[in-house]
Amino acid sequence: MRQISQHGEWSSRLAFILAATGSAVGLGNIWKFPYIAGENGGGAFVLIYLLCILIIGIPIMMAEIMLGRRGRQSPINSMRTLATEAKASRYWSWLGWLGVIAGFLILSYYSVIAGWAMAYVVRVASGVFEGATADGVSHIFATFVADPEKLLAWHSLFMIVTMLVVARGVKGLERTVKFLMPALLAILILLVGYAMERGAFEEGVSFLFKADFTKMTSEGVLTAMGHAFFTLSLGMGAIMVYGSYLPSKVSIGSTTMLIGLADTVVALLAGLAIFPIVFANSMEPASGPGLIFQTLPIAFGHMAYGSIFGTLFFILLVFAAWSSSISLIEPAVAWLVENKKMSRMRSCIWAGLVTWGVGIGTVLSFNLTADVTFFGKTFFDILDYLTANIMLPLGGVCIAVFAGWVMSEEDSVKELSLKRQWLYKTWLFLVKFISPLAVVIVFLKSIDVI
Ligand code: PFF
Ligand code: NA
Repeated sequence: MRQISQHGEWSSRLAFILAATGSAVGLGNIWKFPYIAGENGGGAFVLIYLLCILIIGIPIMMAEIMLGRRGRQSPINSMRTLATEAKASRYWSWLGWLGVIAGFLILSYYSVIAGWAMAYVVRVASGVFEGATADGVSHIFATFVADPEKLLAWHSLFMIVTMLVVARGVKGLERTVKFLMPALLAILILLVGYAMERGAFEEGVSFLFKADFTKMTSEGVLTAMGHAFFTLSLGMGAIMVYGSYLPSKVSIGSTTMLIGLADTVVALLAGLAIFPIVFANSMEPASGPGLIFQTLPIAFGHMAYGSIFGTLFFILLVFAAWSSSISLIEPAVAWLVENKKMSRMRSCIWAGLVTWGVGIGTVLSFNLTADVTFFGKTFFDILDYLTANIMLPLGGVCIAVFAGWVMSEEDSVKELSLKRQWLYKTWLFLVKFISPLAVVIVFLKSIDVI
């Protein structure tokens, strides 16, 4: 077994926590969580999502980090090595492939949305939102997404910046994340403060936390579960690849808890900032992917120094997206470097070009091809559904099954080195039975089999 990865190692536990938190906290928390919670009726959806984080997400994250650290290579090669070591089928390396493809597909649309955030940095800074009404803000958003050339330009810029950083190696990211997270948290708290003062705060809180299960569909449950994987960056090798750079003495359990907590706090704060604005302005919670771009500018347009805070907020959002997007493409790049013997630079150019190209489909799905649908879904909807609701949970279950059933207990005990026996037993029970069963049941229910 390799002692350290050929791509190097994190300098410390903190460095890993920062990078993994950077991967987890992103558009998923601030852009996606609020709008899917809005579309699925709030409270009950949020509760199911939190439950999924706790009993599926956390144990699988531990498993994924563990497999990465033992494999010490790109997910594809790590899985192959670990399977050989456990005398299991070589087909386990398919799991790595699934992840590489999911990463490509997610990044292709993630970059388009990150491009929106970039565009909003400029818009908010220009002061167009000062004193704006809800209608005005919605109009600005609608005009923006109707323009394919603009979306394409921002998408391209975001891809270039991302690939430049990946080309230099991901381990330079520690410093950025270290200042990013606290700053993002501070602005979110400021926004929640605004929502308390000027928004319909109680209505927002009760929408988010009052569970009404009659509003839940099995489709909604699948979305909540899929989002637990998406938001924690699980099921596709992103966290596995970061785990492969993790020094062997770091405790996986407590590190995972910290990352999960940070991710959840950011998502809930985003929800608490957004929904009071939605209700105070008689807007529709189910406004879809434009939700934050149609609500937060209202807050920035009316608070003191709003343009400054707003600019800062969208800059931070771009950085958060960027530290996530790096981890989306890292499994692919690590594999190209290992197996195709390409330089890191060349690997980045190829991976970046393909992702950028697929992203054009998403750009167009908000304007020119908005009416081209398949089962009522646009190109963007399909990519989102396929990756978050199917590929990530599927990858996650495979990781759980591998960690719980294929890897020997002797190895997993050693690798996790949890302080208490009952903690290990709980983890093992969750990855062996609960997570796989839960995912399978939710899958089957969503296609009406049970
Ligand atoms: N966790 C990221 C977010 O919430 O924005 C998105 C993501 C990053 C998903 C990396 C998957 C991944 F591998
Ligand atoms: Na997240």
